[in-house]
Amino acid sequence: MKLNPETLPNHIAIIMDGNGRWAKKRYLPRVAGHKKGVETIKEIVIRCNELKIKVLTIYAFSTENWGRPKEEVRYLMNLPKYFFDDYLPKLMENNIKVQTIGNVEQLPDHTKNMMREAIQKTKNNTGLILNISLNYGSHQEITQAVKQIAQKVKDNQLEIDSIDETLISQHLETANLGEYANPDLMIRTSGEQRLSNFLLWQLAYSEFCFCDKYWPDFTPDDLDLALEEYANRHRRYGKL
Ligand code: IPE
Ligand code: IPE
Ligand code: MG
Repeated sequence: MKLNPETLPNHIAIIMDGNGRWAKKRYLPRVAGHKKGVETIKEIVIRCNELKIKVLTIYAFSTENWGRPKEEVRYLMNLPKYFFDDYLPKLMENNIKVQTIGNVEQLPDHTKNMMREAIQKTKNNTGLILNISLNYGSHQEITQAVKQIAQKVKDNQLEIDSIDETLISQHLETANLGEYANPDLMIRTSGEQRLSNFLLWQLAYSEFCFCDKYWPDFTPDDLDLALEEYANRHRRYGKL
């Protein structure tokens, strides 16, 4: 599909949903869906990079996903290694930079170390930023920001009157993305139409696209369709 570069979003956020249902439909264990979902990530990352998208944020594991069965959580925590073992060279080749949002400290050591290695190895790359939301929840992120700001007020480093939207944004985990911190387009697969604690502040004026396909079935062509839909949206930001 031929997309006009001028109408592309800078930052795309994706809630990769439906892995379990994809597997169930095939009488496979849920984790088979997660495994297949990793292959989809690889294809979508390459397509975003080709299109010169600046940031792709993917929701990989929410703060609420710890409530899933132990075995499934264990499997999900092994996926970064499965993904990067195979894919880190390709990320390097394509100049893609890995970052994370979410509490990485609370992850099992092997997962944490894998993430750190991927971030470290790709830190000088200047192409697409692949921002992986791992153990991420917007409520936790905002709570953390409030605590940090409150502490600064308490320590007399900050006046209450200087708390504004910019300052709050600077205390969120997306702060280092600067002008690209807020996604222009949010895509959720699997037919569900909710945010599930994803980037609540940052998505205030984003365009939403909901796709009925399960994540493992989502293709670069489906991404292009969403981008075409995005190109036809009229973003008004409350104005006329
Ligand atoms: C998304 O697929 C992946 C994660 C949340 C980790 P799900 O595992 O939520 O799949 P469904 O929604 O149960 O089909
Ligand atoms: C959102 O999907 C989280 C991720 C895709 C990582 P969930 O499947 O966890 O969300 P709910 O439970 O359907 O809202
Ligand atoms: Mg789900």
